[in-house]
Amino acid sequence: MLKVPGPKILGHTGASKRDLIPLTERFFQKYGNEYLSWVGPFPVYITREPQLIQEILNSPHCVKKSGFVYKVISNILGDGLMTSENPKWSKHRKLLNPAFKQNILFRFMTIFNTETKNFLKLMDSYVGTGEKDLLTDLLSLAFRTTTQTTIGSKVTEHEAFKTNTLMHSFEYLQDTIIKQILYPWLRNTQILKLTGLHRPISDAISFLNKTVLEMIEDKITTSDDVSKGGENNPFFVVDHVMAHLKNGNFTYENAKSEANIIIAAGYETVGSVILFTLTFLAMHSEYQDRLYEELLELYPKLGDFEVTYDDIQKLDYLDRVLNETMRLIPPVPAIFRQNTEDIKLSNGTLIPKGTHLGICIFNLHRSEDLWGAKSSTFDPDNFLPDNVQQRHPYSFIPFVKGIRTCIGMRYAYMLTKVALVKLLRNYKFSTKFRYEDLSFLMRVAMQLEKTPLLELKKRSK
Ligand code: HEM
Repeated sequence: MLKVPGPKILGHTGASKRDLIPLTERFFQKYGNEYLSWVGPFPVYITREPQLIQEILNSPHCVKKSGFVYKVISNILGDGLMTSENPKWSKHRKLLNPAFKQNILFRFMTIFNTETKNFLKLMDSYVGTGEKDLLTDLLSLAFRTTTQTTIGSKVTEHEAFKTNTLMHSFEYLQDTIIKQILYPWLRNTQILKLTGLHRPISDAISFLNKTVLEMIEDKITTSDDVSKGGENNPFFVVDHVMAHLKNGNFTYENAKSEANIIIAAGYETVGSVILFTLTFLAMHSEYQDRLYEELLELYPKLGDFEVTYDDIQKLDYLDRVLNETMRLIPPVPAIFRQNTEDIKLSNGTLIPKGTHLGICIFNLHRSEDLWGAKSSTFDPDNFLPDNVQQRHPYSFIPFVKGIRTCIGMRYAYMLTKVALVKLLRNYKFSTKFRYEDLSFLMRVAMQLEKTPLLELKKRSK
Protein backbone atom coordinates (compact mmCIF):
# COMPACT_ATOMS: atom_id res chain seq x y z
CA MET A 1 0.00 0.00 0.00
CA LEU A 2 2.82 2.38 0.90
CA LYS A 3 4.10 1.98 -2.69
CA VAL A 4 1.17 4.15 -3.77
CA PRO A 5 2.61 7.69 -4.05
CA GLY A 6 1.36 10.46 -1.79
CA PRO A 7 2.28 12.86 1.00
CA LYS A 8 4.27 10.97 3.62
CA ILE A 9 2.95 12.96 6.59
CA LEU A 10 -0.10 15.11 7.36
CA GLY A 11 -1.80 14.78 3.95
CA HIS A 12 -5.33 16.14 4.54
CA THR A 13 -4.91 16.43 8.33
CA GLY A 14 -6.05 19.79 9.71
CA ALA A 15 -7.12 21.20 6.30
CA SER A 16 -10.04 23.62 6.58
CA LYS A 17 -13.29 23.06 4.66
CA ARG A 18 -12.18 25.77 2.21
CA ASP A 19 -8.76 24.18 1.58
CA LEU A 20 -9.86 20.59 1.10
CA ILE A 21 -10.83 20.71 -2.57
CA PRO A 22 -7.81 22.75 -3.82
CA LEU A 23 -5.48 20.61 -1.69
CA THR A 24 -6.92 17.41 -3.18
CA GLU A 25 -6.48 18.86 -6.69
CA ARG A 26 -2.84 19.72 -5.92
CA PHE A 27 -2.20 16.17 -4.71
CA PHE A 28 -3.80 14.72 -7.87
CA GLN A 29 -1.58 17.00 -10.00
CA LYS A 30 1.49 15.93 -8.08
CA TYR A 31 0.91 12.20 -7.56
CA GLY A 32 -1.49 11.17 -10.34
CA ASN A 33 -5.07 9.88 -10.25
CA GLU A 34 -4.55 7.72 -7.14
CA TYR A 35 -2.59 8.59 -4.03
CA LEU A 36 -2.25 7.68 -0.39
CA SER A 37 -3.00 10.49 2.06
CA TRP A 38 -3.57 10.80 5.80
CA VAL A 39 -6.31 12.12 8.04
CA GLY A 40 -4.66 12.16 11.45
CA PRO A 41 -3.34 8.63 12.00
CA PHE A 42 -5.60 7.08 9.32
CA PRO A 43 -4.25 6.20 5.86
CA VAL A 44 -6.73 7.19 3.14
CA TYR A 45 -6.49 5.82 -0.40
CA ILE A 46 -7.86 8.53 -2.72
CA THR A 47 -8.74 8.22 -6.37
CA ARG A 48 -10.44 9.97 -9.29
CA GLU A 49 -9.81 7.22 -11.84
CA PRO A 50 -13.24 6.04 -13.14
CA GLN A 51 -12.22 2.42 -13.69
CA LEU A 52 -10.84 2.10 -10.16
CA ILE A 53 -13.89 3.88 -8.78
CA GLN A 54 -16.14 1.40 -10.58
CA GLU A 55 -14.24 -1.52 -9.04
CA ILE A 56 -14.45 -0.03 -5.54
CA LEU A 57 -18.13 0.91 -5.72
CA ASN A 58 -19.10 -2.55 -6.98
CA SER A 59 -17.00 -4.54 -4.53
CA PRO A 60 -19.01 -6.23 -1.75
CA HIS A 61 -15.97 -5.52 0.44
CA CYS A 62 -16.33 -1.72 0.07
CA VAL A 63 -19.91 -1.22 1.25
CA LYS A 64 -18.90 -0.11 4.76
CA LYS A 65 -18.80 3.65 5.34
CA SER A 66 -15.66 5.18 6.71
CA GLY A 67 -15.91 5.73 10.49
CA PHE A 68 -14.22 9.13 10.71
CA VAL A 69 -16.97 10.73 8.61
CA TYR A 70 -20.10 8.67 9.11
CA LYS A 71 -19.74 7.91 12.83
CA VAL A 72 -20.04 11.65 13.41
CA ILE A 73 -23.24 11.74 11.33
CA SER A 74 -24.79 8.79 13.16
CA ASN A 75 -23.85 10.22 16.59
CA ILE A 76 -25.76 13.38 15.72
CA LEU A 77 -28.65 12.32 13.46
CA GLY A 78 -28.94 8.64 14.43
CA ASP A 79 -27.86 5.52 12.58
CA GLY A 80 -29.78 5.36 9.27
CA LEU A 81 -29.20 4.19 5.68
CA MET A 82 -26.43 6.70 5.02
CA THR A 83 -24.33 5.49 7.95
CA SER A 84 -25.30 1.95 8.92
CA GLU A 85 -23.24 -1.20 8.48
CA ASN A 86 -24.20 -4.66 7.33
CA PRO A 87 -26.30 -6.65 8.12
CA LYS A 88 -28.45 -3.71 9.30
CA TRP A 89 -27.84 -1.65 6.15
CA SER A 90 -28.99 -4.31 3.65
CA LYS A 91 -32.06 -5.18 5.75
CA HIS A 92 -33.16 -1.53 6.03
CA ARG A 93 -32.31 -0.77 2.40
CA LYS A 94 -34.59 -3.63 1.28
CA LEU A 95 -37.39 -2.31 3.49
CA LEU A 96 -37.03 1.27 2.28
CA ASN A 97 -36.31 0.71 -1.44
CA PRO A 98 -40.04 0.38 -2.32
CA ALA A 99 -40.64 3.89 -0.91
CA PHE A 100 -38.54 5.36 -3.75
CA LYS A 101 -39.94 3.29 -6.64
CA GLN A 102 -41.39 4.94 -9.74
CA ASN A 103 -45.04 4.25 -8.82
CA ILE A 104 -44.55 6.11 -5.53
CA LEU A 105 -42.81 9.00 -7.26
CA PHE A 106 -45.89 9.39 -9.47
CA ARG A 107 -47.89 10.00 -6.33
CA PHE A 108 -45.31 12.38 -4.85
CA MET A 109 -45.79 14.60 -7.91
CA THR A 110 -48.90 16.07 -6.24
CA ILE A 111 -46.81 17.29 -3.30
CA PHE A 112 -44.02 18.52 -5.60
CA ASN A 113 -46.54 20.52 -7.64
CA THR A 114 -48.33 22.01 -4.63
CA GLU A 115 -45.13 23.09 -2.91
CA THR A 116 -43.64 24.64 -6.07
CA LYS A 117 -46.93 26.45 -6.75
CA ASN A 118 -46.68 28.13 -3.34
CA PHE A 119 -43.03 28.88 -4.04
CA LEU A 120 -43.93 30.79 -7.21
CA LYS A 121 -46.09 33.14 -5.11
CA LEU A 122 -43.06 33.91 -2.96
CA MET A 123 -40.88 34.48 -6.04
CA ASP A 124 -43.50 36.89 -7.46
CA SER A 125 -42.92 39.09 -4.43
CA TYR A 126 -39.19 39.31 -5.31
CA VAL A 127 -39.73 40.65 -8.83
CA GLY A 128 -38.44 44.21 -9.19
CA THR A 129 -36.57 44.13 -5.85
CA GLY A 130 -33.04 43.64 -7.22
CA GLU A 131 -30.67 40.74 -6.55
CA LYS A 132 -31.76 38.27 -3.86
CA ASP A 133 -30.23 35.44 -1.86
CA LEU A 134 -32.58 32.55 -2.71
CA LEU A 135 -30.70 29.80 -0.88
CA THR A 136 -32.75 29.73 2.33
CA ASP A 137 -36.02 29.79 0.36
CA LEU A 138 -34.88 26.93 -1.86
CA LEU A 139 -33.66 24.87 1.09
CA SER A 140 -36.99 25.50 2.74
CA LEU A 141 -38.86 24.33 -0.39
CA ALA A 142 -36.82 21.11 -0.48
CA PHE A 143 -37.15 20.66 3.29
CA ARG A 144 -40.94 21.04 3.24
CA THR A 145 -41.16 18.49 0.44
CA THR A 146 -38.78 15.83 1.79
CA THR A 147 -40.27 16.04 5.29
CA GLN A 148 -43.78 15.52 3.93
CA THR A 149 -42.89 12.63 1.62
CA THR A 150 -40.95 10.96 4.45
CA ILE A 151 -43.37 11.36 7.36
CA GLY A 152 -46.65 12.44 5.75
CA SER A 153 -48.48 15.67 4.90
CA LYS A 154 -49.68 16.04 8.48
CA VAL A 155 -46.22 17.38 9.44
CA THR A 156 -47.30 20.74 8.00
CA GLU A 157 -49.59 21.15 11.02
CA HIS A 158 -46.72 20.80 13.51
CA GLU A 159 -45.53 24.04 15.14
CA ALA A 160 -41.83 23.25 14.58
CA PHE A 161 -42.53 22.82 10.86
CA LYS A 162 -44.62 25.97 10.50
CA THR A 163 -42.06 28.16 12.30
CA ASN A 164 -39.07 26.61 10.46
CA THR A 165 -37.42 25.70 13.79
CA LEU A 166 -37.10 22.07 12.72
CA MET A 167 -35.18 23.07 9.59
CA HIS A 168 -32.96 25.40 11.60
CA SER A 169 -32.06 22.53 13.93
CA PHE A 170 -31.09 20.40 10.92
CA GLU A 171 -28.99 23.29 9.55
CA TYR A 172 -27.20 23.78 12.85
CA LEU A 173 -26.49 20.07 13.20
CA GLN A 174 -25.27 19.72 9.59
CA ASP A 175 -22.75 22.45 10.39
CA THR A 176 -21.76 20.71 13.62
CA ILE A 177 -21.20 17.48 11.68
CA ILE A 178 -18.58 18.98 9.35
CA LYS A 179 -16.83 20.74 12.27
CA GLN A 180 -16.57 17.45 14.16
CA ILE A 181 -15.30 15.63 11.05
CA LEU A 182 -12.58 18.21 10.38
CA TYR A 183 -11.65 18.94 14.00
CA PRO A 184 -11.93 15.59 15.84
CA TRP A 185 -11.23 17.21 19.24
CA LEU A 186 -14.71 18.76 18.99
CA ARG A 187 -16.13 15.24 19.44
CA ASN A 188 -14.81 15.18 22.97
CA THR A 189 -17.53 16.00 25.52
CA GLN A 190 -15.15 17.75 27.94
CA ILE A 191 -13.77 20.01 25.20
CA LEU A 192 -17.30 20.75 23.99
CA LYS A 193 -18.27 21.72 27.54
CA LEU A 194 -15.26 24.02 27.85
CA THR A 195 -16.07 25.74 24.56
CA GLY A 196 -19.73 26.19 25.51
CA LEU A 197 -20.87 24.10 22.53
CA HIS A 198 -22.08 21.08 24.46
CA ARG A 199 -25.41 22.54 25.55
CA PRO A 200 -26.56 23.98 22.16
CA ILE A 201 -25.56 20.78 20.34
CA SER A 202 -27.30 18.44 22.76
CA ASP A 203 -30.35 20.73 22.88
CA ALA A 204 -30.58 20.71 19.06
CA ILE A 205 -30.24 16.90 18.95
CA SER A 206 -32.92 16.42 21.63
CA PHE A 207 -35.28 18.86 19.91
CA LEU A 208 -34.82 17.18 16.53
CA ASN A 209 -35.36 13.67 17.90
CA LYS A 210 -38.35 14.64 20.00
CA THR A 211 -40.03 16.49 17.13
CA VAL A 212 -39.47 13.82 14.48
CA LEU A 213 -40.65 11.07 16.84
CA GLU A 214 -43.78 13.07 17.66
CA MET A 215 -44.47 13.53 13.95
CA ILE A 216 -44.01 9.80 13.24
CA GLU A 217 -46.24 8.76 16.12
CA ASP A 218 -48.86 11.24 15.06
CA LYS A 219 -48.75 9.89 11.50
CA ILE A 220 -48.94 6.27 12.56
CA THR A 221 -51.79 6.66 14.99
CA THR A 222 -54.00 8.67 12.63
CA SER A 223 -53.49 7.11 9.22
CA ASP A 224 -56.81 5.30 8.79
CA ASP A 225 -57.77 7.39 5.81
CA VAL A 226 -56.37 5.41 2.84
CA SER A 227 -55.90 8.53 0.73
CA LYS A 228 -53.36 9.64 3.30
CA GLY A 229 -51.25 6.50 3.00
CA GLY A 230 -50.92 3.86 5.69
CA GLU A 231 -49.74 0.31 6.05
CA ASN A 232 -52.08 -1.10 3.37
CA ASN A 233 -51.70 1.77 0.98
CA PRO A 234 -48.05 2.76 1.38
CA PHE A 235 -47.37 6.23 0.19
CA PHE A 236 -45.04 8.12 2.50
CA VAL A 237 -41.72 6.56 3.51
CA VAL A 238 -42.98 5.89 7.04
CA ASP A 239 -45.90 3.83 5.66
CA HIS A 240 -43.41 1.32 4.29
CA VAL A 241 -42.10 0.44 7.73
CA MET A 242 -45.41 0.47 9.58
CA ALA A 243 -46.00 -3.27 9.42
CA HIS A 244 -42.42 -3.84 10.54
CA LEU A 245 -42.92 -1.50 13.48
CA LYS A 246 -45.90 -3.59 14.54
CA ASN A 247 -44.14 -6.95 14.19
CA GLY A 248 -41.04 -5.67 15.97
CA ASN A 249 -38.71 -5.90 12.95
CA PHE A 250 -38.20 -2.15 13.14
CA THR A 251 -38.19 0.06 16.25
CA TYR A 252 -39.44 3.63 16.63
CA GLU A 253 -35.80 4.58 17.19
CA ASN A 254 -34.98 3.02 13.76
CA ALA A 255 -37.86 4.89 12.12
CA LYS A 256 -36.76 8.20 13.64
CA SER A 257 -33.10 7.77 12.60
CA GLU A 258 -34.06 6.74 9.07
CA ALA A 259 -36.39 9.74 8.79
CA ASN A 260 -33.68 12.13 10.09
CA ILE A 261 -31.15 10.75 7.63
CA ILE A 262 -33.50 10.78 4.61
CA ILE A 263 -34.59 14.35 5.28
CA ALA A 264 -31.01 15.54 5.89
CA ALA A 265 -29.70 13.72 2.79
CA GLY A 266 -32.51 15.01 0.64
CA TYR A 267 -33.22 18.64 1.36
CA GLU A 268 -29.78 20.23 1.37
CA THR A 269 -28.68 18.53 -1.85
CA VAL A 270 -31.88 19.33 -3.74
CA GLY A 271 -32.20 22.92 -2.48
CA SER A 272 -28.57 23.65 -3.38
CA VAL A 273 -28.67 22.04 -6.80
CA ILE A 274 -31.66 24.19 -7.80
CA LEU A 275 -29.69 27.30 -6.79
CA PHE A 276 -26.53 26.12 -8.61
CA THR A 277 -28.54 25.50 -11.80
CA LEU A 278 -30.24 28.90 -11.68
CA THR A 279 -26.85 30.51 -11.08
CA PHE A 280 -25.19 28.88 -14.10
CA LEU A 281 -28.17 29.82 -16.28
CA ALA A 282 -28.11 33.39 -14.97
CA MET A 283 -24.42 33.56 -15.91
CA HIS A 284 -25.09 32.10 -19.38
CA SER A 285 -28.21 33.70 -20.86
CA GLU A 286 -27.74 31.79 -24.16
CA TYR A 287 -28.34 28.47 -22.38
CA GLN A 288 -31.19 29.94 -20.34
CA ASP A 289 -32.90 31.14 -23.56
CA ARG A 290 -32.50 27.74 -25.14
CA LEU A 291 -34.05 26.02 -22.17
CA TYR A 292 -36.85 28.60 -22.13
CA GLU A 293 -37.67 27.66 -25.76
CA GLU A 294 -37.91 24.01 -24.75
CA LEU A 295 -40.27 24.87 -21.88
CA LEU A 296 -42.39 27.18 -24.02
CA GLU A 297 -43.30 24.29 -26.32
CA LEU A 298 -44.65 22.18 -23.49
CA TYR A 299 -46.10 24.98 -21.36
CA PRO A 300 -47.44 27.76 -23.62
CA LYS A 301 -49.18 29.62 -20.75
CA LEU A 302 -47.50 31.67 -18.03
CA GLY A 303 -48.30 31.15 -14.36
CA ASP A 304 -48.65 27.93 -12.42
CA PHE A 305 -49.32 24.65 -14.22
CA GLU A 306 -49.21 20.95 -13.39
CA VAL A 307 -45.90 19.28 -14.29
CA THR A 308 -46.40 15.57 -14.94
CA TYR A 309 -44.03 12.65 -14.76
CA ASP A 310 -44.36 12.22 -18.55
CA ASP A 311 -43.53 15.89 -19.21
CA ILE A 312 -40.26 15.54 -17.35
CA GLN A 313 -39.15 12.67 -19.60
CA LYS A 314 -39.52 14.92 -22.65
CA LEU A 315 -37.31 17.76 -21.40
CA ASP A 316 -33.93 16.71 -22.85
CA TYR A 317 -32.24 20.08 -22.63
CA LEU A 318 -33.25 20.51 -18.99
CA ASP A 319 -31.70 17.12 -18.29
CA ARG A 320 -28.43 18.20 -19.90
CA VAL A 321 -28.36 21.51 -18.02
CA LEU A 322 -29.01 19.80 -14.70
CA ASN A 323 -26.35 17.15 -15.27
CA GLU A 324 -23.81 19.74 -16.33
CA THR A 325 -24.56 21.67 -13.13
CA MET A 326 -24.05 18.56 -10.99
CA ARG A 327 -20.82 17.85 -12.89
CA LEU A 328 -19.29 21.22 -12.05
CA ILE A 329 -20.78 21.45 -8.56
CA PRO A 330 -21.60 17.95 -7.33
CA PRO A 331 -23.96 18.38 -4.35
CA VAL A 332 -21.99 15.65 -2.55
CA PRO A 333 -18.33 16.45 -3.33
CA ALA A 334 -16.69 13.28 -1.94
CA ILE A 335 -17.57 10.01 -0.27
CA PHE A 336 -15.61 7.71 2.00
CA ARG A 337 -15.68 3.94 2.42
CA GLN A 338 -13.59 1.36 4.26
CA ASN A 339 -12.80 -2.07 2.84
CA THR A 340 -13.72 -5.04 5.01
CA GLU A 341 -11.36 -7.45 3.14
CA ASP A 342 -8.10 -6.92 1.22
CA ILE A 343 -8.88 -5.88 -2.35
CA LYS A 344 -6.72 -5.81 -5.46
CA LEU A 345 -7.58 -3.23 -8.13
CA SER A 346 -7.09 -3.90 -11.86
CA ASN A 347 -4.02 -1.61 -11.96
CA GLY A 348 -2.31 -3.87 -9.40
CA THR A 349 -2.84 -1.68 -6.32
CA LEU A 350 -3.44 -3.88 -3.28
CA ILE A 351 -5.50 -2.20 -0.59
CA PRO A 352 -5.28 -3.88 2.80
CA LYS A 353 -8.45 -4.51 4.79
CA GLY A 354 -9.56 -1.54 6.92
CA THR A 355 -8.10 1.21 4.71
CA HIS A 356 -10.21 4.34 4.28
CA LEU A 357 -11.13 4.95 0.64
CA GLY A 358 -11.93 8.44 -0.65
CA ILE A 359 -13.77 8.96 -3.93
CA CYS A 360 -13.39 12.61 -4.96
CA ILE A 361 -16.46 13.28 -7.05
CA PHE A 362 -15.63 16.98 -7.45
CA ASN A 363 -12.13 16.31 -8.85
CA LEU A 364 -13.34 13.39 -10.99
CA HIS A 365 -15.98 15.63 -12.59
CA ARG A 366 -13.35 18.25 -13.50
CA SER A 367 -10.55 15.94 -14.58
CA GLU A 368 -9.09 17.14 -17.90
CA ASP A 369 -8.30 13.51 -18.84
CA LEU A 370 -12.05 12.85 -18.95
CA TRP A 371 -13.64 16.20 -19.77
CA GLY A 372 -10.96 17.83 -21.91
CA ALA A 373 -9.06 21.13 -21.61
CA LYS A 374 -12.31 23.03 -20.94
CA SER A 375 -13.28 20.74 -18.06
CA SER A 376 -14.13 23.71 -15.84
CA THR A 377 -16.40 25.44 -18.38
CA PHE A 378 -20.19 25.14 -18.15
CA ASP A 379 -21.36 23.43 -21.34
CA PRO A 380 -24.58 21.34 -21.35
CA ASP A 381 -23.44 19.68 -24.61
CA ASN A 382 -21.10 17.57 -22.50
CA PHE A 383 -24.26 15.52 -21.99
CA LEU A 384 -25.24 15.05 -25.62
CA PRO A 385 -25.84 11.29 -26.01
CA ASP A 386 -22.78 10.81 -28.29
CA ASN A 387 -20.50 12.57 -25.82
CA VAL A 388 -21.86 10.54 -22.91
CA GLN A 389 -21.28 7.33 -24.80
CA GLN A 390 -17.62 8.10 -25.41
CA ARG A 391 -16.82 8.52 -21.72
CA HIS A 392 -16.29 5.90 -19.04
CA PRO A 393 -19.68 5.36 -17.28
CA TYR A 394 -18.08 6.23 -13.93
CA SER A 395 -16.84 9.65 -15.16
CA PHE A 396 -20.07 11.21 -13.86
CA ILE A 397 -21.36 9.96 -10.50
CA PRO A 398 -23.21 12.72 -8.58
CA PHE A 399 -25.39 10.05 -6.94
CA VAL A 400 -22.58 7.47 -6.81
CA LYS A 401 -23.13 4.17 -8.62
CA GLY A 402 -22.72 0.53 -7.67
CA ILE A 403 -23.96 -1.31 -4.61
CA ARG A 404 -24.65 1.63 -2.27
CA THR A 405 -26.01 4.24 -4.62
CA CYS A 406 -28.25 7.17 -3.54
CA ILE A 407 -31.73 5.85 -2.79
CA GLY A 408 -33.27 9.25 -3.66
CA MET A 409 -31.77 9.73 -7.14
CA ARG A 410 -35.01 9.59 -9.12
CA TYR A 411 -36.79 11.57 -6.44
CA ALA A 412 -34.10 14.27 -6.62
CA TYR A 413 -34.31 14.52 -10.42
CA MET A 414 -38.10 14.82 -10.28
CA LEU A 415 -38.35 17.45 -7.55
CA THR A 416 -35.48 19.52 -8.94
CA LYS A 417 -36.96 19.45 -12.42
CA VAL A 418 -40.49 20.37 -11.31
CA ALA A 419 -39.08 23.41 -9.48
CA LEU A 420 -36.77 24.44 -12.34
CA VAL A 421 -39.51 24.06 -14.98
CA LYS A 422 -41.87 26.38 -13.12
CA LEU A 423 -39.21 28.93 -12.22
CA LEU A 424 -37.57 29.13 -15.64
CA ARG A 425 -40.88 29.23 -17.49
CA ASN A 426 -42.05 32.22 -15.43
CA TYR A 427 -38.90 34.26 -14.76
CA LYS A 428 -35.67 35.27 -16.41
CA PHE A 429 -32.74 35.08 -14.01
CA SER A 430 -29.65 37.28 -14.11
CA THR A 431 -26.67 37.84 -11.82
CA LYS A 432 -23.56 39.97 -11.42
CA PHE A 433 -21.85 37.00 -9.77
CA ARG A 434 -18.99 35.66 -11.89
CA TYR A 435 -17.84 32.10 -12.36
CA GLU A 436 -14.42 33.03 -10.88
CA ASP A 437 -16.18 34.10 -7.65
CA LEU A 438 -17.30 30.53 -6.94
CA SER A 439 -15.45 29.18 -3.93
CA PHE A 440 -16.32 25.81 -2.46
CA LEU A 441 -16.59 24.67 1.13
CA MET A 442 -16.40 20.93 1.59
CA ARG A 443 -19.26 19.67 3.75
CA VAL A 444 -21.16 16.40 3.53
CA ALA A 445 -23.24 18.41 1.05
CA MET A 446 -21.40 21.04 -0.99
CA GLN A 447 -21.62 24.63 0.18
CA LEU A 448 -20.53 27.83 -1.53
CA GLU A 449 -18.47 30.28 0.47
CA LYS A 450 -20.41 33.21 -1.03
CA THR A 451 -23.99 32.61 -2.12
CA PRO A 452 -24.62 34.02 -5.63
CA LEU A 453 -27.41 36.61 -5.61
CA LEU A 454 -29.99 36.34 -8.38
CA GLU A 455 -32.39 38.86 -9.91
CA LEU A 456 -35.76 37.72 -11.28
CA LYS A 457 -37.69 39.39 -14.11
CA LYS A 458 -41.19 38.16 -14.88
CA ARG A 459 -41.49 36.73 -18.41
CA SER A 460 -43.98 38.62 -20.57
CA LYS A 461 -45.13 35.59 -22.56
C1 HEM B 1 -29.29 16.27 -6.12
C2 HEM B 1 -29.64 15.57 -5.08
C3 HEM B 1 -28.87 14.43 -4.46
C4 HEM B 1 -27.58 14.04 -4.64
C5 HEM B 1 -26.54 14.63 -5.59
C6 HEM B 1 -27.36 12.90 -3.79
C7 HEM B 1 -26.16 12.20 -3.71
C8 HEM B 1 -25.94 11.12 -2.87
C9 HEM B 1 -24.70 10.44 -2.75
C10 HEM B 1 -23.42 10.78 -3.48
C11 HEM B 1 -24.87 9.45 -1.86
C12 HEM B 1 -23.82 8.44 -1.39
C13 HEM B 1 -23.24 8.93 -0.12
C14 HEM B 1 -22.15 8.05 0.39
O1 HEM B 1 -21.91 6.96 -0.12
O2 HEM B 1 -21.55 8.50 1.34
C15 HEM B 1 -26.23 9.49 -1.39
C16 HEM B 1 -26.80 8.64 -0.48
C17 HEM B 1 -28.06 8.75 -0.01
N1 HEM B 1 -29.02 9.65 -0.42
FE1 HEM B 1 -28.80 11.04 -1.85
N2 HEM B 1 -28.50 12.62 -3.11
C18 HEM B 1 -29.45 13.52 -3.50
C19 HEM B 1 -30.77 13.58 -3.08
C20 HEM B 1 -31.34 12.69 -2.21
C21 HEM B 1 -32.72 12.70 -1.84
C22 HEM B 1 -33.77 13.65 -2.42
C23 HEM B 1 -32.89 11.73 -0.90
C24 HEM B 1 -34.15 11.31 -0.19
C25 HEM B 1 -35.27 11.94 -0.22
C26 HEM B 1 -31.59 11.11 -0.69
C27 HEM B 1 -31.35 10.10 0.20
C28 HEM B 1 -30.15 9.44 0.32
C29 HEM B 1 -29.91 8.36 1.26
C30 HEM B 1 -30.91 7.82 2.28
C31 HEM B 1 -28.61 7.92 1.04
C32 HEM B 1 -27.90 6.76 1.74
C33 HEM B 1 -28.14 5.53 0.86
C34 HEM B 1 -27.49 4.25 1.39
O3 HEM B 1 -26.36 4.30 1.88
O4 HEM B 1 -28.15 3.22 1.26
N3 HEM B 1 -30.68 11.70 -1.51
N4 HEM B 1 -26.87 10.53 -2.04
